[in-house]
Amino acid sequence: MQSDNTLMVRVWRGGAEGKYQAFEVPRHASQTVLDVVTHIQRALDPTLAYRFACRVGMCGSCAMTVNGVPRWTCRTHVDKVVKGDHMEIAPLRNLPVIRDLVTDMREFFDKWARAKGIFEGKRTRQDDFALISPEDGNRKEANKGIECIGCAVCYSACDVVAQNPDYLGPAALNRAWTLVKDERDTAGAERLRAVAGDAGCHSCHTHMSCTEHCPKQISPTAGIAGLKREVARAALKGTL
Ligand code: SF4
Ligand code: SF4
Ligand code: FES
Repeated sequence: MQSDNTLMVRVWRGGAEGKYQAFEVPRHASQTVLDVVTHIQRALDPTLAYRFACRVGMCGSCAMTVNGVPRWTCRTHVDKVVKGDHMEIAPLRNLPVIRDLVTDMREFFDKWARAKGIFEGKRTRQDDFALISPEDGNRKEANKGIECIGCAVCYSACDVVAQNPDYLGPAALNRAWTLVKDERDTAGAERLRAVAGDAGCHSCHTHMSCTEHCPKQISPTAGIAGLKREVARAALKGTL
């Protein structure tokens, strides 16, 4: 029989065509959603597939959909998200499901590459370090987006990705924005071209879901708006 100290948890099982399976999990103080999933896998069903690594909000691997909302599960307390004693845990939306709670992240990271989210500098190890003042305007702008952990919560929250799977998405565009604002980077024009196409920044509808859900309080929406401005500027200057 269910007690006051029990959580009723429905967990997605299988691939895209799977279904939910119910588990009863003991409830305790300071329990995270990842603790719940780990209990199920260790004590109730060792075949449950899920992903995590750091457990402290750094690696970005533990994101899942919890009661319909994408979240990092290692830093999400059950008390914050539970509805009565019920919780529903599913894989992230907008990514192919490999099995149970594990999604295939390849297209997410491929889009970082498509958005030219890789630093390109011209200095060699023989050169001095570049000196960028913390007060520099571009540095401050890059700082706002630089703590991204690649968790794909924003990507899962974005309706434009859901409608247009080719859209680069908030994380890749945020990464491109931090590099556009990095004065050491030399791939500026090429990167603006990469994000200017139909799948790029102009497809963003600015409805802010990414920004609302990002666990690192990053605003990809603001970065994407910045990219739109830079693309327009480059187009006017004829450098796009
Ligand atoms: S603001 Fe743009 S990138 Fe963010 S969720 Fe909305 S459409 Fe997607
Ligand atoms: S921008 Fe935020 S939600 Fe998106 S991948 Fe980075 S840390 Fe995660
Ligand atoms: S396990 Fe690393 S961020 Fe959650």
